[in-house]
Amino acid sequence: MRARYRESGNVLKLPAALWDSAFLRTCRGEPAPRTPVWLMRQAGRYMAEYRALRSRTSFLELCRTPALAAEATLFARERLDVDAAIIFSDILIALEALGLPLAFAAGDGPTLSRPIASRADVDALRPGAAAAADLGYVHDAIRLTARGLPADIPLIGFCGAPFTLASYAIEGGSSRHFARTKSLMYREPATWAALMERLVETLSLYLAAQIAAGASALQIFDSWVGNLTRDDFAEFVAPWLNRLVDAVPAGVPVIVFGTDTGHLIHPIAATGCDVVGVDAITDLDAAWTTAGGPGRVSVQGNLDPCLLLGPRERLLDGADAVIAAAAGRPGHIFNLGHGVMKETDPEQAVALVKHVHERTQR
Ligand code: CP3
Repeated sequence: MRARYRESGNVLKLPAALWDSAFLRTCRGEPAPRTPVWLMRQAGRYMAEYRALRSRTSFLELCRTPALAAEATLFARERLDVDAAIIFSDILIALEALGLPLAFAAGDGPTLSRPIASRADVDALRPGAAAAADLGYVHDAIRLTARGLPADIPLIGFCGAPFTLASYAIEGGSSRHFARTKSLMYREPATWAALMERLVETLSLYLAAQIAAGASALQIFDSWVGNLTRDDFAEFVAPWLNRLVDAVPAGVPVIVFGTDTGHLIHPIAATGCDVVGVDAITDLDAAWTTAGGPGRVSVQGNLDPCLLLGPRERLLDGADAVIAAAAGRPGHIFNLGHGVMKETDPEQAVALVKHVHERTQR
């Protein structure tokens, strides 16, 4: 099993300012001068500057153009004064690289026009190494972004988890009940295994290249895995998610995140990840204990993103409640329980970050 980040040391020989940054210290469970904070989807449509970028190019073109992806990443990081940047990209481009045509229609969610329905469809996917090589534009964007960041701000690379990506590949887009996904999983376990296998092969290479390009932390988004029972998680997800986490080279922390995963905290922590993402409806304190406690693993979360839409006072009270749940114990990264919504006033997000910094100064 991969040594957890807190045991592996600075094997990548990161500069001291980065290694000792509040974010990376917290990933290792070490005390930090303040609680680090960043927001999932911190670069997005809620910001006028992002909408201006988007008025000139499509979402996928933005992802594919390193200079623009770097600009979107760096702008949001600076505007919010957050303690980490996350590379501007999307989890679904890995499916496109595997040979599934991807489109984002204005106002709608994503569509994958040739969904996977059979073993033959899985066998027709491109090999993992070819798919990972096609994602080189993400690695270029990471190189460019890392150069533009302050010395003490890490860049987070990311990918979708095998289950969440498989669900998009099978449903052909977003889903509410994951009926096709679960039906294929139950009816054709060998087809499911072959698909998960191809995803892990691709994503392992993709993540390793993100580290080589300058990402100093990784987040694996298993956004929809909370729709599975613990037994189904154990049978249909854990063997592959564990392998993906295990494949990440030493020296870089791995965050695993999903929504509605209160019942899966233990198996998620058991993947060997360094930080467990906690959604907004799950109790942070209880989840941390279930995951193994501050001595063993760090946690990230878990303010309800809808609070950003409410009155300022209620927002900051909510932030205080999250801070109180972590109770000053080293190993808490402040974040939302899911991404910033497009209706959010950016001033609310700026005020939230400032408040967390002030309240947790040590
Ligand atoms: O700032 C950041 O967090 C980095 C960028 C980022 C995006 N997508 C940009 C994006 C990240 C980390 C993602 C991950 C992602 N993408 C996930 C996992 C996180 C989660 O929210 O659970 C998922 C499920 C996707 C798939 C996806 N991408 C959907 C379903 C949609 C359409 C719905 C929506 O919110 O628009 C996207 C589009 C998308 N990804 C946008 C952005 C900024 C909006 C595209 C636009 O500009 O029109």
